[in-house]
Amino acid sequence: MAPLSPLQRPRYAPHLPPVLLGMNRAGSVGKTTVGHSIGVQAALRGYNVLKADADLQSDMSYWHGYDGDFVPKGAPTIHDVMLGRAKLDDAIVPGRTRISSGDGDDAFRVIPGLHLVRGDNKMSQADSELTMDPRGVFWLQLALKSQIQADQYDLIYIDCPASLGRLSISLLLAATDVIVCMKPTRKEMRGASALAVAIEEIRSEYQEFGASATASYYLINEAKSHQGQGAFYLELQQEAEEIFGDKLLPYIGSSVRVPEAYSAQEPVAIWDPKAPLVPTINGILDTFGFPDKSGAV
Ligand SMILES: Nc1ncnc2c1ncn2[C@@H]1O[C@H](COP(=O)(O)OP(=O)(O)OP(=O)(O)O)[C@@H](O)[C@H]1O
Ligand SMILES: [Mg+2]
Repeated sequence: MAPLSPLQRPRYAPHLPPVLLGMNRAGSVGKTTVGHSIGVQAALRGYNVLKADADLQSDMSYWHGYDGDFVPKGAPTIHDVMLGRAKLDDAIVPGRTRISSGDGDDAFRVIPGLHLVRGDNKMSQADSELTMDPRGVFWLQLALKSQIQADQYDLIYIDCPASLGRLSISLLLAATDVIVCMKPTRKEMRGASALAVAIEEIRSEYQEFGASATASYYLINEAKSHQGQGAFYLELQQEAEEIFGDKLLPYIGSSVRVPEAYSAQEPVAIWDPKAPLVPTINGILDTFGFPDKSGAV
């Protein structure tokens, strides 16, 4: 198998690190699970990571103990950044994991190197707000370009809503590489191929504005590993290997550790370091060029 292509750097701002996006127009395919795990495990491996939670339900933020439905008064979020009312730095909170019950900061431990642009349920208004904003779909591209220093982060990950509306287009204009997430079903695979075409169209339409997002990788989440789990699914996975070839990332199997970890507000890698997802994500980080440099993981 040929090696996966390396992550790109933004054409609109070559000083920035790769900007990864987990995407699918369908919901519940594992976008947040994969993105959360990639970000956390890259940080545990010794990298500086910025995650931006642009989803309407703020699951990534919730997983770190920040509720997008109950944002404390005066705490800037990604929604304020989008509207130009706050700088990125003001909306960034530490990535953290729960260590005891309660809502205070002392109920959480900060994960070194992990930073989060806090999500907000007001992002549900984003598609219409972006039509009225003169910076419109360029808000994130402009914020990253002008507010992030060279070498501040090694990797940026953006968690997307399950749609291809104006908000998602704005995220794509800031991204370099898209991981198209799917489940091993016909519906998802059709959706993944259609999304790749849409990403291609957006890139060419906005090329002169530095857009470079590419559907670089495809990921099957909740993959099946043996006949007992359904021969039909295995056949579809084989078909996915033929369609997506070298762009297909290692499969992620189904594991109860994932919803458990979300409920516990701990990353899977901390909730259960032996969960199968953990080495799979580490393997993906290896192929992305983020080998372990912590000596600890
Ligand atoms: N590998 C897995 N094994 C078991 N459960 C999983 C796995 N991956 C995700 N899940 C569960 O499936 C649900 C959807 O996952 P997730 O939130 O990551 O998807 P999403 O694509 O981000 O969804 P949305 O479109 O709502 O943002 C969650 O309840 C999650 O805990
Ligand atoms: Mg999600």
